[in-house]
Amino acid sequence: MTQPQRVLVLNGPNLGRLGKREPEVYGSVTHDQLREHLIGTGEGLGLAVEVRQSDHEGEMIGWLHEAADNDVPVVLNPAAWTHYSIAVADAVAQVPIVIEVHISNVHAREDFRRHSVVSPYALGVIAGLGLGGYDLALAHLAAIRD
Ligand code: DQA
Repeated sequence: MTQPQRVLVLNGPNLGRLGKREPEVYGSVTHDQLREHLIGTGEGLGLAVEVRQSDHEGEMIGWLHEAADNDVPVVLNPAAWTHYSIAVADAVAQVPIVIEVHISNVHAREDFRRHSVVSPYALGVIAGLGLGGYDLALAHLAAIRD
């Protein structure tokens, strides 16, 4: 049996408050529930999924370096960092495969959410499909796995 491929799902600031935070935008599922769900999705796809969340930019950058050094694909919701963090974008640029996910449709909200400094370094972007965007990103990683 081949080993399941490792995948990191990394969530940026305020996403630890899923379920409490603006439920009309982000839904009622908590981050812990999302983690359990995505681990299950990964098992079904033959992926070993690890889900992490941080409100601290340096911690996130460290995780992206870890992914770069170990050649681990990443599903990343950079949250607010999407729109302004060149440091996160520079770290993303070092990771061979990153799929950027947004729960909400960032193009249908405030103007400042329409621009991503991360997208130029992402393989692709999924936005507006709710938490299902993470599942779609994992399905794609499974489909393109070596
Ligand atoms: C988000 C959209 C961002 O604009 C926002 O800052 C977030 C979440 C999303 O998943 O829809 O925190 O990335």
